[in-house]
Amino acid sequence: MTKKYFSFLSRKNNSNCKLLIAKYFNKIQPLFIILKPMGIPIVLLFLASSDTFEPLFSVPQGFPKPVYDFTKNPLTIEKVELGRRLFYEPLLSRDGTISCASCHLSYTGFTHIDHSLSHGIDNRIGTRNSLALVNLAWNKTFMWDGAVNHLDMQALAPLSSRDEMDENMAHVVQKLQQSNRYPRFFQQAFGDSSVTGERILKVISQFMLTLVSANAKYDKVMRNEASFNEYEAKGYELFKKHCASCHTEPLFTHSGFENNGLKPDSILNDKGRMTITGRKEDSLLFKVPTLRNIEVTYPYMHDGRLPNLQMVLYHYTEGVYQSSTLAKQLRLKMPLSEEDKVNIIAFLHTLTDETFLRNPKFQYLR
Ligand code: HEC
Ligand code: HEC
Repeated sequence: MTKKYFSFLSRKNNSNCKLLIAKYFNKIQPLFIILKPMGIPIVLLFLASSDTFEPLFSVPQGFPKPVYDFTKNPLTIEKVELGRRLFYEPLLSRDGTISCASCHLSYTGFTHIDHSLSHGIDNRIGTRNSLALVNLAWNKTFMWDGAVNHLDMQALAPLSSRDEMDENMAHVVQKLQQSNRYPRFFQQAFGDSSVTGERILKVISQFMLTLVSANAKYDKVMRNEASFNEYEAKGYELFKKHCASCHTEPLFTHSGFENNGLKPDSILNDKGRMTITGRKEDSLLFKVPTLRNIEVTYPYMHDGRLPNLQMVLYHYTEGVYQSSTLAKQLRLKMPLSEEDKVNIIAFLHTLTDETFLRNPKFQYLR
């Protein structure tokens, strides 16, 4: 316990940590235990936390500095918890049926898996597959086309989208203010009970920032706590050669946009990044998604067209559609044998982080 505590304290180069540490100390309460062996009283002092000894957020070993500026929205337990409640709160939708978690389920890496395009209010079908919510503190842009450039603004998009939650912030504020529970939770988090749009957005960000996945077998191997089997090791070498230029470790994305050769869908007619920038050279470029927990986040790609990882590998070897914006790395056929593909998939399975997927702190708060 102490070791973990001090390794956290000694992490330099991250000013955000200082704020977290301050909060951390607030939560620590002394606990005295008096033992009387042979009648002589011995007092033992323990430091117990009212909640937990885990920090709310820390930078995992080997990860870069987060992009999110925590000094503008310092995490506290009460705010993270309020954000968690709101993430699971259907009052955020017009008819009280859809919450963020309807499309972002914890067990599946915070995406939905039962259909390719997301389903929202009145069972309306959206135009894209939902994205996994993981390691968002390192994200520079959000959405498949990068339409959103700050996490604190992200929740507004689904909230007001006609196909998703079809609500507006002013009305959400009113509903929460009038509820018999929320004014109390805002009081606990902010010191007064007033509900505002900004507070809602910031606490939802706080919860999403805690969704850090860095304890998969892959991470244990990198920390020398485990080792790859023969197939995973071969898969890792192939991955570094053919995939890592875009799906770059340790986040498994280089955080930019690429055209990975999906044939344009004439019905959805989604131009990706170009929709936002208007630039021809951005046509058919989509955000490079992380591959963390990829085993459970199927179906794959921005429109969910590929049902499993075998099909994804088949796409990269046989299915790449040539176009002027296709990424250079994919212009020549990728030389992978069937055995190579099996090994790459074995490696991809080492990115499944059970402690993340089963973390009770990410689930519905009763
Ligand atoms: C109806 C389904 C649906 C609901 C409800 C929904 N989302 Fe999403 N979410 C999506 C889809 C689909 C995308 C990808 C959209 C795109 O790229 O255009 C997405 C993308 C995101 C992203 C971007 C992730 C990234 O890596 O870029 C975040 C963050 C997010 N949602 C958070 C939320 C929050 C917070 C809520 C609740 C306020 C919410 N979502 C409600 C379907 C949904
Ligand atoms: C040139 C960059 C690039 C290379 C190289 C590349 N990918 Fe991708 N990958 C992408 C992009 C971009 C997407 C999202 C495309 C979309 O949905 O439009 C993607 C999507 C995926 C997905 C689906 C993720 C999801 O959440 O839906 C998987 C799985 C995947 N890639 C695996 C691989 C593997 C395995 C390799 C190597 C054999 C590889 N990629 C090589 C850019 C690349």
